[in-house]
Amino acid sequence: MALRFTDDFIDRLRDSNDIESVIAGYVDLRRRGKTLTGLCPFHNEKTPSFTVYPDTSSYYCFGCGAGGDVINFVRHIENLDYIEAVKLLADRAGIKMPDDKVDDSASNLRRRIYSANREAARFFHETLFTEAGKGQLDYLRRRNISMKMIKHFGLGAAPDDWHALENHLKSKGFNRDELVAANLLRFSEKNGKRYYYDAFRAKVMYPVIDLRGNVVAFGGRVLDNSKPKYINTSDTLVYKKSNELFALNFAKNGNERKIILCEGYMDVIALHGAGFENAVAGLGTALTPEQVSLISRYADEVALCYDSDEAGQKAVRAALSLFSKTGVRVKVIRLQGGKDPDEIIRVHGKEMFAKLLNNADNDTEYKLSVIRSKYDVESSDGKVNFLREAANYLATTDSLERDVYAMRLADELGVSKDAMLQQIKQASKREYYRKTKSEFQNAQKQAQEMEKMVDPQRVKNMRAAKAEDTVLISLFNNAAFYKKLKDRLNNDIFVTPVNKQILNVVMSRLENDESVDISHLSQFLTSEQTGAVAKLLSKQSMVSNTLKECEDCITVLEEEKKKREISDPSKMSDDSFLAFFNSLKKED
Ligand code: UTP
Ligand code: MN
Repeated sequence: MALRFTDDFIDRLRDSNDIESVIAGYVDLRRRGKTLTGLCPFHNEKTPSFTVYPDTSSYYCFGCGAGGDVINFVRHIENLDYIEAVKLLADRAGIKMPDDKVDDSASNLRRRIYSANREAARFFHETLFTEAGKGQLDYLRRRNISMKMIKHFGLGAAPDDWHALENHLKSKGFNRDELVAANLLRFSEKNGKRYYYDAFRAKVMYPVIDLRGNVVAFGGRVLDNSKPKYINTSDTLVYKKSNELFALNFAKNGNERKIILCEGYMDVIALHGAGFENAVAGLGTALTPEQVSLISRYADEVALCYDSDEAGQKAVRAALSLFSKTGVRVKVIRLQGGKDPDEIIRVHGKEMFAKLLNNADNDTEYKLSVIRSKYDVESSDGKVNFLREAANYLATTDSLERDVYAMRLADELGVSKDAMLQQIKQASKREYYRKTKSEFQNAQKQAQEMEKMVDPQRVKNMRAAKAEDTVLISLFNNAAFYKKLKDRLNNDIFVTPVNKQILNVVMSRLENDESVDISHLSQFLTSEQTGAVAKLLSKQSMVSNTLKECEDCITVLEEEKKKREISDPSKMSDDSFLAFFNSLKKED
């Protein structure tokens, strides 16, 4: 086992980054006895199932199964690898990283990709002001992008050349493999030979910057009407387009906790140029749950600014459904006077956009108008049906909104406000049960699927898996049991690969009288395995912590092992086979 950090170092790191305050930087936590709960940042939910255990310095989400120690948390929420997460926490606490070399080839490559991207962004930006970037600069000028915005977003030009970037980056010491890993260089293969070429040629370049200020990707736009309009960096070690938003690095700094979500790079740039510095856009994919979670970290209100065409309206409905699983309020901007914000601002000025933003329907108004358009409210049948569906919808909103709209609809359609409220109240009871049930079921399903994927053996061997859990939890709590159990404890009585892996690490540490705290185990485990340790820690109350219980569990595991062998004699050890054979003889 390659030891990367000493236990002392990990202890210092853990003690000076107490899990409660680190997580509180991302999640609104409420104390509940000895634990804290909040809305899980790793899946969308409205009732909190994310739990922090200060006692064991761990967290676990009963909804989606995410779990681990403070390092694992930072790793996932910031999208880092293990060593980078350790560094971030060390920085946060002002602790010096150990000097000795650690084995971090993966994080080395990530670092190289970050710096290749940064160097590429610089190259593209400088090229914009040379002969090779003249077409690109003219293009940006034609589209009214000011020099200030060009500098602010670091816009650039990829020259019309197959190797300009490659040559430049090679002169800066990068090799081809690194550039391919960064997706700056692509290759085709012919007769077993690779032909490399720049991924971006003759394009206006938009760098994508993550929340920590790293250049993680690029979008490159053609200068004419040819297709495809954009070439984008595909996913790399440092970039997952479904997890990023263009310009969130700027937008997150606004102190209003409001975000404008629009469709394209150009819309964002035009909006920032007009003073709407809270505009962001997706990166060429439909809005994802990850992006929605990300937005909910920085905003309480989001204004959707999508095209008014059919596709745009479909996107609005999908977005409303994703945001409805969070506490973020949604407004829908009805674009008028242009097809997108870029055009509206160019043609009618920023005041026009401010007005549209101001007049934006909140999601309730938007939804009610969609429902209303389905019925003919002039007829009494249509009116009744509309009101019934409207009541069902209003049942899903908060009580203030319910009052406001019940009153408004009652007025408009000439019915009694009390009748309307009564209708909503009934629907809301049904809705409450439905929602709680379905949220719980979804979360459980997700957790089970996750489990099946990570640990298929578990589902098939529940009895053994539970015994394994008990043994592991008991060992976490009672290191002294180990010496008494070790003769009977070997990992082939364990069936589930995840627990087996955990047991291996636990045994080798206990053998050397080392601690089995989750933060010490985590550097020897994958992030999923660390999550499994956190899950075990969350089940503390299910074990009685007696030696006897452990011994019984080991007996169960031995029995289960025998059963498996009987159903598959080829798996038997010689001893068990002999015993099995003799027992058959006796039965004859
Ligand atoms: P748009 O076609 O609305 O582009 O696509 P735009 O940003 O407004 O560009 P202009 O105004 O024509 O210059 C919206 C977004 O969809 C992604 C890009 O992220 C774009 O900003 N997209 C679009 C692609 O990734 N590839 C494409 O070929 C087209
Ligand atoms: Mn556009």
